[in-house]
Amino acid sequence: MELKPGMSAFVTGGASGIGKALSLALAQRGLFVTIVDFSEERGKEAASLVEKENTKFYSSLTVPSALFVKCDVTIPSDVAGAFEKHMETYGGLDVCINCAGIGTKKLFYEDTTDGTETWRRTVNVNLLALMDCTRIAVQIMRSKKKPGVIVNMGSAAGLYPMYADPVYSGTKGGVVMFTRALSFLKRFGIRVNVLSPEFVQTDIGLQANPKVVKSTGGFLAMDDVVKGMFELIKDDTRAGACLWVTKRRGLEYWPTPEEEKKYLIRRSKRNFTSPNFSSITIPQSFEKIVVHTLSHNFRSATKVIRTPLRLPIDPNFALVKILYAGVNASDVNFSSGRYFGGKGNEAGARLPFDAGFENFIPSWLLICPLHFLLITHTSVVSELSGFVP
Ligand SMILES: NC(=O)c1ccc[n+]([C@@H]2O[C@H](COP(=O)([O-])OP(=O)(O)OC[C@H]3O[C@@H](n4cnc5c(N)ncnc54)[C@H](O)[C@@H]3O)[C@@H](O)[C@H]2O)c1
Repeated sequence: MELKPGMSAFVTGGASGIGKALSLALAQRGLFVTIVDFSEERGKEAASLVEKENTKFYSSLTVPSALFVKCDVTIPSDVAGAFEKHMETYGGLDVCINCAGIGTKKLFYEDTTDGTETWRRTVNVNLLALMDCTRIAVQIMRSKKKPGVIVNMGSAAGLYPMYADPVYSGTKGGVVMFTRALSFLKRFGIRVNVLSPEFVQTDIGLQANPKVVKSTGGFLAMDDVVKGMFELIKDDTRAGACLWVTKRRGLEYWPTPEEEKKYLIRRSKRNFTSPNFSSITIPQSFEKIVVHTLSHNFRSATKVIRTPLRLPIDPNFALVKILYAGVNASDVNFSSGRYFGGKGNEAGARLPFDAGFENFIPSWLLICPLHFLLITHTSVVSELSGFVP
């Protein structure tokens, strides 16, 4: 998606850290931004910085170029209200960034509370609220029938284990898989992608063990995270994509195409069994059914004739062996001439003509494009073994 002034973005967790940096980067391209966060002071400050960036693009506006909405993303009515406010102000939604996130205050297996303020909250903020925001953003984008991009904030801790905070790691793994499972929304013009950086120097990043941060090469530059977000927004081919951002390797999609090949099952509507061509003996002649008189009574309209097989067969023809066949309504329509356009006597002028596909007797059959057409529109029922009209 090409970002243009006048488009709008909705950013949760936009009051500080990565969310704030992403909001400002969007404003630097002239986007209106709604910052959604429960930190009021920081949120208002971030919104005023967005407005400042936007003054470069607009001399006068009838709406504020940035909004701050105080919201706890775990409260569904707060979230719905924030989206409503955004839509009332900007009338559309081009980009939604779900960035609000927290770490777990206490190691969960040492936690004797019911978890409401600790590990359950991590799950609620990082995963459930993100799903809720994605749900509403998709509904809005679908209702507007305009392309939209949603970027969910994952983490490298969602790609491999983060032993220091298993609950955080679990939520981020959930964010990654949730997002990847939404690739199909591309058919509605909505692309949902996930950004998974390693450590960034923010309030959350500073909670990590410095030794672990060092082992990854140190904190990532915020610019690299911003670059990753723009790649996911701009590249129209990316849907359900997970972009891993590291100091050591830069931007890299996860899983790699080689890894993906190991488990990806290509769904095919046709289930072909591979033929053993070496065991096939090509016949000298083949049988076909011709319509010699127009009638709905297929038996009296047709007769079986044997015809020499001239090899090589003409281009656009195929030789197939029919094992099972039957007669159905399309065949009797065909034998009565209904499939020929023009006046009623046009079909009569074509007599005798080859009959359709499904009526063929168990035999070899030479089919031309017309019959291919019939194959795609009809089904041969294998249980009708060897039914001969
Ligand atoms: N910093 C890192 O090392 C790192 C690495 C990978 C992923 N992330 C992810 O990036 C995102 C942003 O984190 P950050 O590093 O910028 O930390 P941060 O603490 O600076 O930003 C998180 C923001 O989310 C807001 N927030 C938290 N709970 C909320 C709630 N219930 N409702 C509304 N707002 C809420 C906070 O007020 C804050 O402004 C998070 O999802 C985090 O998991 C961070």
